[in-house]
Amino acid sequence: MAALITISDIAQYVGQDVTLRGWIYNRTDKGRLQFLLLRDGSGVVQCVAFKKEMDEAQFDIARTLTQESAVIITGTVRTDERAPGVPGGFEVGVKDLQLVQMSGEFPITPKEHGIDFLMDHRHLWVRSNRQWAILRIRATIVHELRNWLDDHGYLLVDTPIITPAAGEETTTLFEIDYFGEPAFLAQTGQLYNEANMAAFGKVYCFGPTFRAEKSKTRRHLMEFWMLEPEMAFFSLEDLMDMEEELIGHVVKKVLEKHPAELAILERDLSRLEAITAPFARITYDEAVKHLQKLAAETDDPEQKELLQIEWGDDFGSPHETAIAEMFDKPVFVYHYPSAFKAFYMQPVEGRPEVCRSVDLLAPEGYGEITGGSERIYDTALIEERVGKIGIPREAYKWYLELRSYGSVPHAGFGLGLERTVAWICGLPHVRETIPYPRLLSRNYP
Ligand code: 4AD
Ligand code: MG
Repeated sequence: MAALITISDIAQYVGQDVTLRGWIYNRTDKGRLQFLLLRDGSGVVQCVAFKKEMDEAQFDIARTLTQESAVIITGTVRTDERAPGVPGGFEVGVKDLQLVQMSGEFPITPKEHGIDFLMDHRHLWVRSNRQWAILRIRATIVHELRNWLDDHGYLLVDTPIITPAAGEETTTLFEIDYFGEPAFLAQTGQLYNEANMAAFGKVYCFGPTFRAEKSKTRRHLMEFWMLEPEMAFFSLEDLMDMEEELIGHVVKKVLEKHPAELAILERDLSRLEAITAPFARITYDEAVKHLQKLAAETDDPEQKELLQIEWGDDFGSPHETAIAEMFDKPVFVYHYPSAFKAFYMQPVEGRPEVCRSVDLLAPEGYGEITGGSERIYDTALIEERVGKIGIPREAYKWYLELRSYGSVPHAGFGLGLERTVAWICGLPHVRETIPYPRLLSRNYP
């Protein structure tokens, strides 16, 4: 009896008969020899159908198999250094082939397709090699982020998706009708995390978050996944220490677990191998000075224009890229102006125009992958800030109450999963980092 296995386990079965179930990724016709590239979701292997060694009717099926036809193949595993596939280097000599379904003409062929065409066929595009590699790395990133937190005393506490209040900018709210009352899709789980941190000490939430961002960039999605840790008695420095450990761990694990996927993506591994704690830390003031110096020194007028900045301006992506280029690891930028940061951020003592905020900028132009801060824990100040949001205080009553019962210094951050995946995989756009992206002009499929 042949063992029913997945391609990922094939190395353990050299010399034995196995049964594989999957889809034809590609077929090369050499007459009496048919090279069938079979994928089963766990990997890809070359199956060789040889006329002489097979039932005639089955061989006739083998030589007409179309891309994405579903089959069950039984055969003998042998090694062949030249055999393509993932893991690669293995071949299956076909003894038996059962057709499950002959596929219709698959729209996505190995030739080049335009991005709109691919996005319209995302439900089929996810079967391709490159998407396979990205989404597997994404799953590992989630797994390792959570693993690290679970192993370090952080408790997963889920936060709601339908909320009565805004957690971030009110301009990016998705409003829904909650039985006749307005409600919003969560922009963040943070406000609830702040309640949960007082119950459990160190918590995190991980889930989809929603922003009606009217910006069409390589970094923005309308629906993205965010990991948000929140810790009692944590300072900004504690936050940076923890973030660099967490991110260093995740990158190390991706390197360990996904050499094949990173090879498919042609990722420069040396860039990832450099990502170990500690990361550089610079203030917003220092970053602005650096940008002004770069703008002054450059001979390129276009670059000069892009790098233009005054103290008090938020960074655009050319600024973030230029700051990140100072280092080959991610860099923390902290103490941003309070004016353009969120309402809940603690002002710096003696210098209230800046706040105890920190963003982590990824290398290679990937921009902000995490944003966090110390939170205001003073009752009067948080009252005043909430009063300016423009949503009735009633919706924040519970949040304000937290400051009356054992209010303590605390801090947290949010990590944007898709930007992190884009950076680690080395992708030009976040649209490939999530199975079904929601973009400004797209919610299909
Ligand atoms: O900096 P943001 O807006 O921070 C918060 O929402 C905080 N409440 C988090 C917290 O402290 N608990 O978002 C955090 C991260 C950003 O650094 C970015 O990586 C990602 O979320 N992000 C987006 N990713 C994709 N598309 C968008 N539209 C995003 N907006 C933010
Ligand atoms: Mg931010």
